[in-house]
Amino acid sequence: MSLLIKNGRIVTASDDYVADIFIEADKITTIGKNLDMKADQVIDAKNKLVIPGGIDPHVHLEMPFMGTFSSDNYETGTRAALFGGTTMVIDFVIQSQGNSLHAALAEWQGRSDGNALSDYSFHMAVTDFNEDTKAEIKDIIEVEGISSFKTFMAYKGSLMIDDRQMVGLMDEVKKHGGMVSVHATNGDIIDYLVATNKSEGNLSPLYHYLSQPEITESEATGRFADMAYHTGVPAYVVHLTCEGALNKIREVAKRNQKVFVETCIQYLTLDASLYERGFEAAKWVMSPPLREKRNQAGLWAGINQNLIQTIATDHCPFMWEQKKKGENDFTKIPNGQPGIEHRMELLYSEGVCKEKISLNKFVEISSTNSAKIFGVFPQKGCIAVGSDADLVIFDPNEKHVISAKTHHMNVDYSAWEGCEVTGKCKTTILRGKIAVHENKVFVEKGYGKFVKRNKLSSVI
Ligand code: URP
Ligand code: ZN
Ligand code: ZN
Repeated sequence: MSLLIKNGRIVTASDDYVADIFIEADKITTIGKNLDMKADQVIDAKNKLVIPGGIDPHVHLEMPFMGTFSSDNYETGTRAALFGGTTMVIDFVIQSQGNSLHAALAEWQGRSDGNALSDYSFHMAVTDFNEDTKAEIKDIIEVEGISSFKTFMAYKGSLMIDDRQMVGLMDEVKKHGGMVSVHATNGDIIDYLVATNKSEGNLSPLYHYLSQPEITESEATGRFADMAYHTGVPAYVVHLTCEGALNKIREVAKRNQKVFVETCIQYLTLDASLYERGFEAAKWVMSPPLREKRNQAGLWAGINQNLIQTIATDHCPFMWEQKKKGENDFTKIPNGQPGIEHRMELLYSEGVCKEKISLNKFVEISSTNSAKIFGVFPQKGCIAVGSDADLVIFDPNEKHVISAKTHHMNVDYSAWEGCEVTGKCKTTILRGKIAVHENKVFVEKGYGKFVKRNKLSSVI
């Protein structure tokens, strides 16, 4: 099969020009002006942008969490991702305490194998680092192709590890060429604030927010960065939300330490005023919580200062019925919100259209940097001869309104209900195949492939 995309404005992390792209099977084979080649399919992309398929480095599909499962499975979640221009997602395998990393991997493979429509990969979340876990790290990287290890400094009693385990894991991961990432909030302070609020009868979702003040994040971010500096392991902070935590990253850069940082689209576009809506606020109960609006300018600045490299979603949706489990107690509200479908369009609309970031920066933080940091560049994350033909044809002017009535995620509310965005993913191409075109899906479950990542790229 061959596909010719004519007259598109090709935008990458570094370039911006009008040309044609010729695709044979799953790869880009020619890029040039006025290509006169016979193709099985031709798409006219005049007046449209052609950008690399998005990579969402942080999602949770059918994740067992807080006594339930996130409501998008591999099929529904990756289908929604394709509608929104994301062609690859990275999910988290989560070790359960007392069990092995390999057992957790087998569990996640059981849910994902043969079910995805987009490409996907895994991070490995280590929740119990001991001599047995330590012995598994090499094989997880070299055989399973999972080179990034996630840790939790919060969720005390279920996912959290202590600093001794953290440095032990860092030493081992460094030895084998991997990276350690972190949910950086101080679990002990949060545990204390949650207990205090509960004992005082403060049980509404607002107290989820008030139990996780910014200081819990800035303290843990700095501590994590120091431990990474001490061990020398490549390090990455997931879902950073606030100025105080970002300043810790700014600070360690002064000693020439590079800690990669991800923020999420919700922290750039939504804020803590939503927690004043009574129990409706459960829609936005996530960890860390949304922050005061003043933080958003700092996050956009951090993107432009290259302190923040990637934009994710932390997609972890729950149906309203699931959220209602915490109607009388915020600690029972499953943490997480949906977003996998809207990351690219919201980032373009709020970032590029409102002149907070350039078009090249949009591509860099929605695709290219994740490909580089997580070791799949230049196979993915760029538009180049020899790369996977993962492309989005994007109408920069089309306006539309986000709604649960029209989204494709398996969740019955939208975190951005009624929000008008400018810019629409018209066609999503994954490995040379049209996956979504004009709101219709053309690939089946099982088309999405697991992407092994047994090396990290340092070209960032
Ligand atoms: O609230 C969230 N973020 N849920 C998913 C798990 C995590 O902490 O990333
Ligand atoms: Zn987290
Ligand atoms: Zn997460």
